[in-house]
Order: sequence, then structure tokens, then C-alpha cells
Amino acid sequence: MYLIPKKLDEEIAIVPKIPDNEKGLYAFQQENVFLLGNSNMQYVLQMDEHRGKISLLHWGDPVSTLNPLPYDWRVSGGDEYSSIYSDFPIYGDGDDREPALKLSSLTTGITSFDFKFKDSQVFDGKIGELPSGLPSTYTENDDEAKTLLLKLHDEDADLELRLYYTVFREFNVIARHTEIVNNGKEVISIERIASCSIDLPPSPHEEGYNFLQLQGAWAREAQEVWNKIDYGKYVVGDTEGSQVHRANPFVAITDGIVTEDTGTVRGFSLIYSGGFQSVLQVNQMGLLRINIGMHPDIFKWKLEPGEFFTSPESVAAYSSNGLGQMSRDYHRLYRTRLARGQWRDRLRPILLNTWEPFLFTFTHDSLVDLAKSAQGTGVELFVLDDGWFGARDSINAGLGDWYPNLKKLPKGLKGLAEDINSLGLDFGLWVEPESVNPDSDLYRAHPEWAVEVPGKAGVQMRNQLLLDLTNEEVQNHLISIMTELFSSANIVYVKWDHNRFISNPFSRTLPPDRQSEFCHRYMLGLYNIVRTLTSRFPQILFEGCAGGGGRFDPGMLAYMPQSWASDNTDVEERIKIQWGFSYVYPLSMLGAHISAVPNHQVERVTDWASRAAISHFGTFGYELNMLEFSEEDKKQAMVDSKVHLAIRHLVHHGDWYRLRSPYKSNWPGWMCVSPKGSDEAIVLTYQRLRHSRETTPSYLLKGLDKDKKYVVLEMPHARKKFTFGGDELMKRGLLTSFSHDFECHLFYICEVGKFTETNS
Ligand code: GLA
Repeated sequence: MYLIPKKLDEEIAIVPKIPDNEKGLYAFQQENVFLLGNSNMQYVLQMDEHRGKISLLHWGDPVSTLNPLPYDWRVSGGDEYSSIYSDFPIYGDGDDREPALKLSSLTTGITSFDFKFKDSQVFDGKIGELPSGLPSTYTENDDEAKTLLLKLHDEDADLELRLYYTVFREFNVIARHTEIVNNGKEVISIERIASCSIDLPPSPHEEGYNFLQLQGAWAREAQEVWNKIDYGKYVVGDTEGSQVHRANPFVAITDGIVTEDTGTVRGFSLIYSGGFQSVLQVNQMGLLRINIGMHPDIFKWKLEPGEFFTSPESVAAYSSNGLGQMSRDYHRLYRTRLARGQWRDRLRPILLNTWEPFLFTFTHDSLVDLAKSAQGTGVELFVLDDGWFGARDSINAGLGDWYPNLKKLPKGLKGLAEDINSLGLDFGLWVEPESVNPDSDLYRAHPEWAVEVPGKAGVQMRNQLLLDLTNEEVQNHLISIMTELFSSANIVYVKWDHNRFISNPFSRTLPPDRQSEFCHRYMLGLYNIVRTLTSRFPQILFEGCAGGGGRFDPGMLAYMPQSWASDNTDVEERIKIQWGFSYVYPLSMLGAHISAVPNHQVERVTDWASRAAISHFGTFGYELNMLEFSEEDKKQAMVDSKVHLAIRHLVHHGDWYRLRSPYKSNWPGWMCVSPKGSDEAIVLTYQRLRHSRETTPSYLLKGLDKDKKYVVLEMPHARKKFTFGGDELMKRGLLTSFSHDFECHLFYICEVGKFTETNS
């Protein structure tokens, strides 16, 4: 039976034969159709038996019948069988749009390949870590997911293309990656390889398709940017190579009118920390193609006979309930089935970081004094940031020399950690292992380990060069020096920073014909290092950082369950940054600290309560010189820490709802609702600017139970107790008022009956 017949009257609808007890999770082949899905989402691929090509028939809500596409929807050019809905378009294959795969044979010069369907396989569960050590989502037992593997074959070059699709029972996403195996005799160059490519028909809605990207820069990360998708090509991407400051590896496509709670959204996220690209293209026939993968401008790979290559994993999310549902799916998946290790499910400690209080200027005694001043404020973890090692008195020297500066720290790290521990605080440390200052012992001993083109000085950023992580010797050095360091004292937390990106990509250990592999090999080297260290030190909580939020991405999240979101801690800036990251990333990942005013980046003065309120929606901490605290400040910090201890289970593990956008409204807001049911919630409301004689609109809360009664308390002082029906909070809204600019309010909500004075 052909589902792409020559004549329309031969067409037959597909009736998916899914047994009732398997509707919650399935992946199977029915004739020449492959069906994957769960109770909310269906992904249907069709194999054209004439050409052996795979195309996407449906990705959306589950349906009971699937009729073939009308004739004019699926032919292009002169070939009546060429489907225009390709699920993995290949360069040179009669489709002139953005290809997912482009190869060229270095043996014959041929650039067109004809991959035809050969075989398929379905298995329970999924591959937990991709070959070459690329991070990916995983399952804890095989019952959670099913994976379809499609194998396509190019006969002439004897190449196998493997397309993996995993569907989960609990998450409305498809995880995909691509593999190429060279079974032939030719040497192949992979010019580009996407992790996922999707073709969609013209939008059925008048409003058409729009897309969201998270653009950014240092101290202005994850800015929400929307564009209408019209004819032409839109490219979102980042070629920094080892940071994703400029664009986060994510796009979302909305179809028609979409709000936080309604409408169709498809998200595309890439589990990768290097250069990525997502292309959105509408061709002359109005068809939309979206792909996401490694950035082809900084990637090319030589595939010798007998070798294979695996792409990073992409996660495509589907929601028919708006942007909020998409985000909640990403949050749960990434928090529970991408993040790994002992800290995955643990609530995060309240920390005090020395960077903003001290920068590079401190001694053992001043650190201990600072730690003493934190006693009684609720701080649980004391983090020694930059400046503790080698000749590191400024950004000019010392990176690479990972031994304590005994002039500053005469008792070493061990003695310092003991003194901090004796004050009842845990001890944590900052490192930046991937870089080296030319003014360092490491560079003097091993200049050849730095990323520089021989004979030419490398471009420095923050006076530093990268180390060549493509070189195994460098990887082993970093693993052993960090192992020694992390074992040298009672270190329970590590902040892993990365303050520059790749320039002058070149390795002295790669042959000339593999230099174009540098950027990807750098990432593979990095993943090898962090995988080894995080499994060697499972008790350590690792926090990623890259000049603020330059590595706030799913790749690092696989190993480091939290990440510093931005060096910008101003309230007005942070609400936009945290809002942006919340489209994809769980709040258990998001580093948020109260810092001093005037703010270091924008010099704005905002009140303490507002800085605290914003910081509660992440992994809470302080970047404040508590030695300068008045008794009043100290009491204030104590109250805020208590608030955080009381609500962190909601923030780190709860369900996230965006209420009103800081990009659109003068009164943004958001909330987290108890993961165990709708019995508790925490809400943030915010006024950007006070305008004369303007009335604040109410906040329509979400995720509560309309039939329950709730106590609403304004935090931090548990003022004003009111009782509301869930229906009133969600339909009439929470009424609040503000008095000044940049003002946050925090409300704790608890079901009547479960509320006690202790949880207030
Ligand atoms: C980066 C980080 C900061 C701090 C400094 C130290 O900028 O984002 O938090 O650790 O490095 O040099």
C-alpha cells in the first residue's frame, strides 16, 4: 500500500491502531507509517516507498485518523513523488531549502547523496549518554520512554544515516539526534549535521507563525525577542564556540494566537554548550522548515572509513496549552531527566559569595571575619570566589596556577575551610580551569597548551587565553589538578567559571585536515573533564558560570545542576533575564543573589525587599559585604533567609507560571505552585515605574484549585492575612498596590487548613 499514490482516489486514511492500554506511550510502525506519542502528543512519520524518503505527516494533538496530504501539498518540481515534508532534508536531494545534512566525499568530490530507508527498530527507554560523551536526557527505567531508530542508507558511498526519536510518557517532547556511520571506502567530510529538522505546512491561522528567541550579551542575558515568520530565512545562532551569551540554544514557534495558557507552540532546544544554529525558512510555496544543530560556520568533520559521528541531542516540545505548558515540560524534563547526580533533587543551600564584597582583595582573616558576620543571617554556604590562587591579584595574572596564594591564605585552603566550617558554614570555591593568563606559571611551562596559532599572539579576552581542551594531555592535566584541588580541603561547592569564548581556533595536536573540528572537539574535551570530575566528586554541588549566564544551557546542566544567570543583579534587569531563561530552564538551576546598591552594572538603587524578592526565584544567595551590615540589615537578611527556607521547595521543585510579562507590562509577575498539588504557592508582583494616578491591574493567579480556600500572606513579614477562594484569585485576581519605582511584592499562599503559624 502506498500512502503517496499516483491518483487522489487511491488515497486511504490511516487509522492509528493504538491499543487502549498503550495510549500513554507508544512507538510502532503501521504499514509505511511510524507513530510515536503519549496521551497529549502524536508524532507521525511516513515513508515514501518509491523514494525511500521519510516525511513528517503530523506533529500535534493525538488524532484518530490521518488522511494523506492533498496532492498539491506534497509535490514539488517535476517529481510527483518528492515529498515536501522532509524529516531530514539532505543537500543535493532535489530540495533547495536549508538542508539538515550536507556531506562531501573527499575521495570522489561528490556532494549529493541518496539516503533511502533501510530499516527501523523500536526499543524501550533511550540512550542515556550519547557516544563521544555528549550529554543527553535519560530515563531511570525503560518504561518511561520509547525510542524509534530509523536507518537510511546511501548505497554508492555505503553510508548509514541513523535518526533517533524518543517519546516520553510524562513529557510532551521528542528527543532527537543523528548519527552517520561510514561503512564504505570513501573519506567523507560532514559539512553540516542538524540534530533535528521539521517541516510544517502553512499555518491554518490568520496570525500565522511567529518565533521567540532568547538573545543576549554579558550582563543582559536571555532577552525575549519575537518575530513574525514570513517568506525568507531567519537564522538564530551563536558562533562564540564555547559560550552562548549572544543567543541561547532555543527557539519556539507559535502557530496562530498563542498566550501563556492557550494556543499551539513548538519549542526547539539543543543540549549543547558550543556554537549552535537554528534556521527558520519559509519557501516560495509558504512551507516552514525549522532546524537546530551545531553551527556550520564553525564545524566540519572528517569521517574516515569505519568511523561514525553523533550529533548533539535536540529536544522538541509540543504544547497545545500555550507557552506556559511548554516551559513546565522543559523544566520537569531538564530538572529530573537531564540534570544528574546527588544534587539533582536536593534543595539548594543559601550562599554568600565573596566576589562583589571583596573582588581580589582579601586575607584569611578578612574572609573569616566576613564568614563570622554571616552567622545568624541564615547563610549556609560560604563561597570564596576569584583571587585565592597563584599571583591572582587582578584579571592580569594567575589563571592556570591552581594552588592557594599563601600570602593571602597562610593556612591554605584546608585551614581556611576548617575555620569556615567551625563557624557552622560549608565552604565552596571558584575555579576557571579552561583558561590561562599568559602571566602564569602554567603558561610559562606549557605555552603550547594555549589556543594560539603558532607564531601569532592569540586574541586575549580579560587578559586570558583558552587552554586547548582538544588535547588529551591538557584534559588529563585539568582532571588531575582539579582532583587534587577538590580533595585538598572540605569543599562542598564549586563555581566553574569560563570568562571568554573561542578565538584563533587551532590545536597543535590536530592534523591540518582536522583543524576545522576544533570547536566541537573543544566541547567534547570539556564534557569529558566535567563528566569525570562531577562523577568523581558526587558530593560537590557544581554551579556553572560563564561571565554570568554565558553557559546557561542544557549541555552544562547535565553535569552542573545550577548556573549563575547573570552578573547583572539589578531588579529591573533581572526580572527580564530570569523571565527569559524561564522559557526553558528550571528555577532550581537559576543562580540569583542579592547584591549591593548602587548596582555594579547599571548603578540603579532599588530597595532591599525588591532585590530579595527577585532573588527568591532561583538558588538564593548574597553578594554583600556583611561586615558593613547594621543590626537592622542583619535582621533583614535573617528574615529573608527564613523566607527562602520556607519557600525553596516551591521554587526549586514547583510548577512555574508566568503571569504578566516585563517585556509588555509595567506590572509583571510570576508564581510557583506546589509540586504536590495546588495547596501552596509563592507569587511575585512588580511595578517597574510609578506613574501618577494610574491603577494597578489585578494579578490573575494560575495553577490553584478553584474550589479551595487560601490564606494569602504578604512576605517577608507575614503581614495582612486574607482568605480568598481559589476561584477569586484566578478569576478576579490578587489585588495589590505599589508606591514607588522598581518595587516587588512577595505573597505566600496556602490552603486553609494546611496553614500553620510555623509555615508563615
Ligand atoms: C565572572 C563571574 C563573576 C565572578 C568573576 C570573577 O565575571 O560571572 O560572578 O566570579 O567572574 O572573576
